[in-house]
Amino acid sequence: LLTGFMYISAWTGYVMVWDEHGMAMAQMGAKLLDQLPIFPESIERSFTGGKPVPASFFFMNLFAHVAVPLGMILLLWLHTSKLARSKWLPEKKLTYWLTGVFVLFSILVPAPMLQKADLLMIPGGYPTDLFYNFWMPLMEWTSTAWVFAGSLGFTLFLTSMPWWWRPRSHKKRESLASHVEEKRCEGCAQCYSDCPFDAILMKDRQEEGLSPQFASVNPALCVSCGICSASCSSLAIGPPDRNARDLIRRLKAFCDEHPVPDDKGLVFVCRHSDLADKAHDEAKNSGWLSYSVECTGTLHSAALTFAAKRFGRTAVAGCPENDCLFREGTTWLTERWQRKRGPELPEAISQDSVFLFNGSRNEGAPLWNWMKDGATSQRPSASPSQWVAGLLATILLLAGIAFGSQVVWNQVPEHGALRLGWRLPGQKIEVCRDLSPEELAKRLAHMRKPRECAVTYINYRLKLF
Ligand code: HEM
Ligand code: SF4
Ligand code: SF4
Repeated sequence: LLTGFMYISAWTGYVMVWDEHGMAMAQMGAKLLDQLPIFPESIERSFTGGKPVPASFFFMNLFAHVAVPLGMILLLWLHTSKLARSKWLPEKKLTYWLTGVFVLFSILVPAPMLQKADLLMIPGGYPTDLFYNFWMPLMEWTSTAWVFAGSLGFTLFLTSMPWWWRPRSHKKRESLASHVEEKRCEGCAQCYSDCPFDAILMKDRQEEGLSPQFASVNPALCVSCGICSASCSSLAIGPPDRNARDLIRRLKAFCDEHPVPDDKGLVFVCRHSDLADKAHDEAKNSGWLSYSVECTGTLHSAALTFAAKRFGRTAVAGCPENDCLFREGTTWLTERWQRKRGPELPEAISQDSVFLFNGSRNEGAPLWNWMKDGATSQRPSASPSQWVAGLLATILLLAGIAFGSQVVWNQVPEHGALRLGWRLPGQKIEVCRDLSPEELAKRLAHMRKPRECAVTYINYRLKLF
């Protein structure tokens, strides 16, 4: 729906400019609208040049151009209202970079205004923007009906997606939803603050002798990420079989089963990270143990403490902060490690003994080195080759936009055209007869009209002199 609205906004925007291209869009858009059997008269007729386009059309167009994006903001808000702390903008650096580059680009390579619209001219040979207006050449090369049916089909396909496409793990998610052991809960509300999907509520408690509030999970909103299990100092919450106690119990059993030499450690690896396979391989090559977790945000400080105490050194391989599948797992783990968020890493455990690595596959060298020889080099800032790659990607993007927005797909017309439009109510012939009493008796009471007329419209011939 949002994409559809964006295309409607772009249509009204281009039409507002009312140059040759805007006029062609109005004419072709009208053809598409005429496919809907809801208008008493053809819309295309308004753009044949017989009469000037009414000012009300431009007013309505301007109104729609402002109202549709406002509607989009509302839809976007609805779309993200399920999430806690939804982010509408990309990372600051990327936002500033792209905004700056686009502003500069639009100044250096402005989109030219074309010839003023004249409904008595046939448009052609003008550049168009293939991102918003790819449907124009398609309509010329196929037919209006095809483009209309294609857009309708594609919109229905995308709109129905949430009903027929769901990640398998989400299908049974109500039974996988997080569970609170109410008696254990101390009402600290840490899980309530941390849940990235706003699935936890704090409820008032009636029983005496316990905290005044306790946490309660809304199973319809819970995606079973397990992040809350790492938020709870009382180990009272988490998806079935995946609360912090379960995690630590399994971790201990795993370590007992897989002894390693004294100078080796254990690396926790996020199952969804793109470096997961490499991290397991590198750990194996370095003689380290690797332990897969659903998200590094599900790692309780007690689990880190256990690993750091047992091995002397431990590491965590997770996704970059803005690329966490469960949105905030990486951020919360880092803050617990920095002792800025509870339950924090205990003072008894040195931060240096826990190496947090949040990055992608190609950036993993510091982690591999840490496992090999304990070198504590932090992730280097962007290397010259990354700068060059970023610059190349930007140039490619801009070149793509410059090319895609200036494509001339149709020819300057080589011939004139005569447009004919006529309105004809049609001449009808009525043949009437009186019904017999028997015929009338056979009919339902409300259909007993004594005289019946058959109407036919006669064909007409158009003569040009
Ligand atoms: C989804 C959001 C929007 C899209 C995709 C969009 C797209 C466009 C496009 C493609 C044009 C034609 C540009 C040209 O070739 O000169 C345009 C023009 C225009 N837009 Fe938007 N627009 C959006 C939102 C808005 C909003 C929110 C406003 C104002 C509140 C606005 C005001 C205008 C105006 C005044 C023009 C006319 C410029 C002229 O006549 O030269 N647009 N828009
Ligand atoms: S499992 Fe994830 S989504 Fe469910 S309550 Fe815990 S933090 Fe929220
Ligand atoms: S973090 Fe644990 S103790 Fe605190 S409110 Fe949630 S379940 Fe209760």
